Amino acid sequence: MFVGIDLGTSALKAVLVDSHQHVIGSHSYPLRVSSPHPGWNEQAPQDWWTALLGVMDALAAAHPGEMAQVTGMGLSGQQHGAVLLGRDGDVLRPCILWNDVRAAAQCAEFERRFPKSREICGNIAMPGFTAPKLIWVAEHEPEVFAATRHVLLPKAWLRYRMTGDMIEDMSDAAGSLWLDVGHRCWSDDALAATGLRRDNLPALVEGTAPAGMLHETLARRWGMNTRPVMAGGAGDNAAGAVGLGAVRAGSSFLSLGTSGVLWVTTDRFRPHPQGGIHAFCHAVPETWHQMGVTLSAASSLAWWARTTGMAECDLLAELPARITRPSPVVFLPYLSGERTPHNDGRIRGMFAGLSPGTTRADMTQAVLEGVAFSFRDVVDALADAGSIVTQADVIGGGSNSRTWVSILSSVTGLSLHRLAHGEQGGAFGAARLARMAVTGEAVDTVCLPQPRAETLVPDPDLTHAYAAPLAFYRRLYPALRSTMD
Ligand code: XUL
Repeated sequence: MFVGIDLGTSALKAVLVDSHQHVIGSHSYPLRVSSPHPGWNEQAPQDWWTALLGVMDALAAAHPGEMAQVTGMGLSGQQHGAVLLGRDGDVLRPCILWNDVRAAAQCAEFERRFPKSREICGNIAMPGFTAPKLIWVAEHEPEVFAATRHVLLPKAWLRYRMTGDMIEDMSDAAGSLWLDVGHRCWSDDALAATGLRRDNLPALVEGTAPAGMLHETLARRWGMNTRPVMAGGAGDNAAGAVGLGAVRAGSSFLSLGTSGVLWVTTDRFRPHPQGGIHAFCHAVPETWHQMGVTLSAASSLAWWARTTGMAECDLLAELPARITRPSPVVFLPYLSGERTPHNDGRIRGMFAGLSPGTTRADMTQAVLEGVAFSFRDVVDALADAGSIVTQADVIGGGSNSRTWVSILSSVTGLSLHRLAHGEQGGAFGAARLARMAVTGEAVDTVCLPQPRAETLVPDPDLTHAYAAPLAFYRRLYPALRSTMD
């Protein structure tokens, strides 16, 4: 019996998985983000701990017999956040999250101090990543920086509380900008560029490797017969990939979650930082991936629902059952800036083409299409990076809308597979990693693909009809940008 835990941004979720890989129980606990200034996003690690105790206590109460048999636990986590710990392991300030853009100027400074960073770390320094955040802390909160003894990513902090060990897996570590991604080890030069050394960071393991044992007191609290082994685990996208079986070169998935991700597994480190493509380690050994990220995907629709005071499902219900023509309105989904392909933390979204005849349904359709155009940019950036994607499993809250997935398919040219049993998310992938850490079973044996319900393919007429609005969309970014300089 295995437990997978996903420390997300809006919730912490845990699943209990049996030896046949059936999910027999799950619980989640909501998390809040605080934004003390525009562009800042923080969470208190103590809230993650409260959430972890909440979900695990609930699982233990609901499934006492099965919890007694748990032998392995795995962690999946939101990436890039910086948890700063003092001499006694005390948390020095709230965690600065992945979607916090305060460290934009510090990105340029990081690359100036470490000119080989793109080559070694595989990525453009972006404000979401961890290393520039530490330069920001050194500049703006020097007393906090001086007191910092350890820097942990979110799920490594959770592990530290659960086991007493400071250990991180390769896939999450790759998002710090301190990892030599090709060699899967910390880069002393990257660390030095932020005034840190290796002993400020956790030890590194593969996601499938054992990485500490649960504290005796917690194992007893949750009615476990033995102290479970913790697996290295994974960053949330890598954990999602493990859960979907996307572990072999060329496998891909598209996540229509809060942010949007198009992922491709690669058998070697293939950096292509220009175009805003991320090249990270996968959570399974000797495997890497490329990924493009559009920062506001399902969150664009959520924003539009809040703004109109409507439920998302009611907005979607106003659209025609089958989309046959593009909206007359074009939407740029850059509500929180954009990563791929623009790497621009300052750009913001817009609607263009409004007229007296514009309806709410036109604007809802434009939101769905704008996110699809942004994915089309990601598809093209990945192609430039050597990964031609033609099909992908589609996951994330937005994948529940068949209309949105069919628009995505026609705009991007991808065949998109909707899953038969919905998605299990990073928590399920983390449980698979726990299983591999405990049993030593092969990746291919454990990481089987998920059954698919249907495949949506591009509609050639619609793809043709989208050419003009896509070209207009692409002209809007440089035009808008030029008004900001
Ligand atoms: C990946 C990324 C997000 C976070 C939060 O680069 O920033 O997917 O991991 O989920």
